[in-house]
Amino acid sequence: MELIVKENAEEIGQAVGELFCKAIEKKPNIVLGLATGASPIPTYRYIAHACEAGRISLRDVRTYNLDEYVDLPRNDKNSYYTFMHRELFDHTDIREENVHFLNGNAPDPQAECAAYDRALEHAQVDLQLLGVGRNGHIGFNEPSNVFTKGSFKVQLTESTLEANSKYFDENPMPHYALTMGIGSIMKARKIVMIATGEKKADAMKAMICGEVSPLCPASILQFHHNVVVYMDKAAAKYV
Ligand code: F6R
Repeated sequence: MELIVKENAEEIGQAVGELFCKAIEKKPNIVLGLATGASPIPTYRYIAHACEAGRISLRDVRTYNLDEYVDLPRNDKNSYYTFMHRELFDHTDIREENVHFLNGNAPDPQAECAAYDRALEHAQVDLQLLGVGRNGHIGFNEPSNVFTKGSFKVQLTESTLEANSKYFDENPMPHYALTMGIGSIMKARKIVMIATGEKKADAMKAMICGEVSPLCPASILQFHHNVVVYMDKAAAKYV
């Protein structure tokens, strides 16, 4: 695991944004695994600017997002579909048919997850971007007694509800989500994680210095051969 400590979230956005731009320049039809939340926003801004400036094109890029809330309309302002369009896709030339999400409104979530896993298997993610929960979750793989394999419907924990409910000012936050499993995340050729702020410091310590355990799902990354973790000083404080 390569660890890189930067001064702040903006610097991380520049470094990770540049890493993604170079990867897209090198392989224009790259398959990206993407995350939502606050952590990747500066990175997405950097990529969007590079695209708007004509430096890179996302025309042939394919993307697979990690997760989506259950029973939230796709066009709700808090859906991850809306987030990705607002923060990245709408500022680029990516083609809508190349953008993939788990459908949190699917009538049969199990079938939806199985179909997503087949698509992922076929596509093979080249570069996976991850944030991390305060409790060590990646995607929405919450701490539990087992590492998950494929995509599944998950009940969100109190820690996650508390962290994300601030975005849901009108409607209550969904308590369930569909998420890619740990096994699928680990299949990415390269993984880049972003962790910023003091609230992530305990998760960083457990992930980097602790035992590999599903009680800290992110700790599985110790077993991946190509992971880079970008932290700001606050997140790196116990590492
Ligand atoms: C979102 C996701 C989550 C977030 C994590 C951190 O797609 O997969 O694992 O990365 O909850 O969220 P932020 O970045 O908002 O602290």
